Amino acid sequence: MRRLLLLAALAAVSCGARAPKEETMVHLSNRVFALAEEQTVYMDSLLMAKMPGQAGHDGGVNVMAGPDRPSRDWLCPRTFQGDTLVTSDIGWWTSGFYPGVLWQMYSLTGKESFHDLAVKHTLPLAGLLDRETDHDIGFQLMCSFAQWVRYAYSHKHEMNVLSYDEIDGILTKGAEKLAARFIPEAGIIRSWNWGAWNIPVIIDNMMNLELLMEYGDREVAEKHALTTARNHFRDDGTTFHLVDYADDGTVLGRQTVQGYADDSAWARGQAWALYGYAMMAREEQDPEIGHPDLARTFNDIAFKLAEWILPRLPEDGVPYWDFSQSDYRDASAGAIIAAGLLDLWRNDPDRDPEKKLVAAAERILRTLASPEYLAEPRTNGGFLLKHSVGNIPGHSEVDVPLTYADYYFLEALRNYRWIEKTE
Ligand code: GLY
Repeated sequence: MRRLLLLAALAAVSCGARAPKEETMVHLSNRVFALAEEQTVYMDSLLMAKMPGQAGHDGGVNVMAGPDRPSRDWLCPRTFQGDTLVTSDIGWWTSGFYPGVLWQMYSLTGKESFHDLAVKHTLPLAGLLDRETDHDIGFQLMCSFAQWVRYAYSHKHEMNVLSYDEIDGILTKGAEKLAARFIPEAGIIRSWNWGAWNIPVIIDNMMNLELLMEYGDREVAEKHALTTARNHFRDDGTTFHLVDYADDGTVLGRQTVQGYADDSAWARGQAWALYGYAMMAREEQDPEIGHPDLARTFNDIAFKLAEWILPRLPEDGVPYWDFSQSDYRDASAGAIIAAGLLDLWRNDPDRDPEKKLVAAAERILRTLASPEYLAEPRTNGGFLLKHSVGNIPGHSEVDVPLTYADYYFLEALRNYRWIEKTE
């Protein structure tokens, strides 16, 4: 018997020795941040090589477009296909994410070179104020100019390019442009300027409300969020992609554009809803200007959706592009869900004492940081993540890197470290 016990103990010890030790989240995030330092600078070099009229410049701030300079030729990274960095102009909805990634890198490293790179890629977006824009001005300005304010302030950086007042002016004007899209009779902000719909509103629009909550008319944002809460959601807590409204607010139709079917759950749409309502609840928890009743309503919506999402994620946590499908994964939806779950947990930790939301976010982040998803240095067009999906029904951006996947991946990793106090 003693011999048997000894053998069992030895077996346990040797199994223990063989079991691979799980990488700590501190090590994992440091590994990703180090890669991001290299990739973001590499991406800048690829962009500069493509930029019209920019050949041979020194990459300094002074030669860049900005409030007084034309920004129509400015190129923003969008994806990488074949061996080509695919870019957009500043008008495309994703133009703020690379500046946003650069501001996160400045925040992480405190390096002056990242400050200058971030400024360089942020300034051209001021050109949006002179253009016809759509609801995405929220994404575009919050990821770029609002991050500038945030991180210049936290690092006490001298405001030697634009003053706080000038940046505030840009964000305020952007918020006015967004608020001008509000249709009071319908209680909703119009999303797109195109298409055959009367007033198309997509769930993604929830994300743009942060610009109004921080720099504009909070009441407009609240009305939009409440109308969306009434009309976009199904009984199970999931959301449709698009709702079309009559001028008086009557719902004309509910459908998908980027998901598999009208009644399926498009993964990124669920991610925008989760993050968007968690963000609105956080805003309403502001002790001075928030509304606790609205905070509860918005947290409830996000929690209900999280409860639907969590058991339906694949084992490794990264969703397929639509919850009804099992072909392509969407790393962007995974990153946004991870960031949204962490934000939601922070809003009301007592509601999830076992930290199930945090554990689910960790599972997603671990998978995204694995070789299956994380790029090798100086590959992937300078993007961090592989395997995202833009628009399968539109035959566009299938199984590619996407700039917003990287932005929310970094944000989620930073929030995770903050929650677990592992800085
Ligand atoms: N906001 C557009 C998208 O998520 O594809």
